[in-house]
Amino acid sequence: MTTITPKIISRVGTNLHNKKYHPICLIKERIRDFFYQKFLNQRKNPIFSIYDNLNPLVTTEQNFDDVLVPKNHPSRQSRDNYYINKNQLLRTHTSAHQLALVKSGLDAFLVAGDVYRRDTIDSSHYPVFHQMEGVKLYSERELFKNVNDPTSLKLFENARRTSVKQETHTMETVKLVEFQLKQTLTELMEHLFGKDIETQWSEVYFPFTHPSWELEIKFQGEWLEVLGSGVMEQEILNTAGAANKVGYAFGLGLERLAMILFGIPDIRLFWSEDERFLSQFKVDDPYDVKFKPFSRYPQLRNDISFWCPDGYHSNDFYDIVRSIGGDLVEQVTLIDEFVHPKTQRLSHCYTVIYRHMEKTLTQKEVSILHGKIATVAENMLGIEVRK
Ligand code: PHE
Repeated sequence: MTTITPKIISRVGTNLHNKKYHPICLIKERIRDFFYQKFLNQRKNPIFSIYDNLNPLVTTEQNFDDVLVPKNHPSRQSRDNYYINKNQLLRTHTSAHQLALVKSGLDAFLVAGDVYRRDTIDSSHYPVFHQMEGVKLYSERELFKNVNDPTSLKLFENARRTSVKQETHTMETVKLVEFQLKQTLTELMEHLFGKDIETQWSEVYFPFTHPSWELEIKFQGEWLEVLGSGVMEQEILNTAGAANKVGYAFGLGLERLAMILFGIPDIRLFWSEDERFLSQFKVDDPYDVKFKPFSRYPQLRNDISFWCPDGYHSNDFYDIVRSIGGDLVEQVTLIDEFVHPKTQRLSHCYTVIYRHMEKTLTQKEVSILHGKIATVAENMLGIEVRK
């Protein structure tokens, strides 16, 4: 059964990351420039190549199996993904293309693309967003080229997997790949945000890398996560025909970076056609953008409470709110939840915050929309609105 809504389908093919002067495209270009400048071959040509036109419709093999996501992993559930059918979905990450691109013989590449996730609704989450994936592979000679006596070092060994390394990697492999990864991505943050940017690494888990790290940057006093990364699982490289190499991979969220870099207050603005937004990025020098957030119009809050049917999940409701309310919805928050002591029925209450990006909404307009959301949720989900 498909979980895709018409609203989501209407976003497929928009490719904000390829629209000249769009902030998502500007960020993509800045990241691409960094890799083009930093990694050159002997002839002074960039070794990275970029893929920004791969189809977002992928198979479950590409999105999950190819990157070793276990068969029973919760991230495969239809509540979190936009499935077309049992075997096809809109990619949830650009990692879906890792295997095929390594298979094609590439050692260093970037992938930019739109990704799709069913998620909560607020000013930094939108069901469609953009990622940039990077992969860099090393042969034994390359990885150890700056070591004094490289002949004593090996990429591979046969040992046990531990919390710090995979079973087939030597300690020197892991440490050098980790060094390359962290140095490169820290430099990338300096390239984007300036030398004074504060960064911090923390250990995390991904099925396709081990060990894995997340990078956070300090923005307006807060630590914000901007990327996931790690030493690529050797099994992926072996399957891809690159068994004699090791490598790292990372995935960056482009909206996040653009919001921080330009000071864009709401993720819906990326989809705005308003010239007051778009024109600010039409500059000859992409490093010379100075975004002035234009004034925001007032919010209107409306609550809805209802009895939930069996098997209900909030994401079902969020999708309906987005389908009907479109980009007028800024945030949906579950504010109350209880089970009726006698009937055992589950009740949810949500606050829906409405705000137009370009004008002041009236309560009359919002009431019509809010009522329509209730009706559609009743018909499609079988909820029962509590009056
Ligand atoms: N695919 C991960 C995500 O979407 C990010 C990632 C990419 C992590 C590559 C590690 C390596 O969260």
